[in-house]
Amino acid sequence: MNAVIEKTRAHVRSKFEGEGSGHDWWHIQRVVNIALVLAEQEQADPYIVELAALLHDIADYKFHGGDESVGPRVAREWLTSLNVEEPVIVHVCDIVAGISFKGAGVATPMKSIEGKVVQDADRLDAIGAIGIGRTFAYGGHKGMPMHDPGYHPEMHASAEAYKKGANTVIGHFHEKLLLLKDRMNTESARRMAEDRHAFMQIYLDRFHEEWEGNK
Ligand code: ADP
Ligand code: NI
Repeated sequence: MNAVIEKTRAHVRSKFEGEGSGHDWWHIQRVVNIALVLAEQEQADPYIVELAALLHDIADYKFHGGDESVGPRVAREWLTSLNVEEPVIVHVCDIVAGISFKGAGVATPMKSIEGKVVQDADRLDAIGAIGIGRTFAYGGHKGMPMHDPGYHPEMHASAEAYKKGANTVIGHFHEKLLLLKDRMNTESARRMAEDRHAFMQIYLDRFHEEWEGNK
């Protein structure tokens, strides 16, 4: 086992264990696992992929007042403390900096195949049965209403508008989750996303039927 990966795994685990917003250590582990499977299919470097997947949420802007520079900075400090080579640090921090969804109308391109698979893995964990669970957990954590029939989901044109969006949990499905299947970078992830997407659609249809008292 690689020492840098092992130390990073232990460090991230100690920071994320018990977290309650859906950004917990299990989320990180699922993203690592999916990313490594995708890496093999897409011939991406598994070392970069695993490091970036472990560090991708290390200081998420959502929990740092919207500041997107904290994640890559914290990742760089950590990797520097382990004497990791500069090109690896640059690559991993680039992935951490670019991974997040920033609104319906905002492109979030990834330069390398390693970045593409880590972004796909993170987005797969945002949809399907797990994605539904995480989104309600996040909504509870932030005190968001579950649903408001008067709320009209917005297709945000900028990252600023997306971050300000005071939405509902069901609104978030329309503003992000249902858009993800068409934004997968790799063919392998797209196939998994279609299946997870179909499940969310069934869930939402049922949610609205029960909301109306029709079921
Ligand atoms: P990203 O970096 O693309 O935002 P994360 O791994 O940080 O991805 O996880 C984002 C997850 O957090 C979402 O998929 C969702 O479950 C939850 N989440 C984030 N923002 C909101 C929101 N405004 N409303 C409800 N859930 C949210
Ligand atoms: Ni994540």
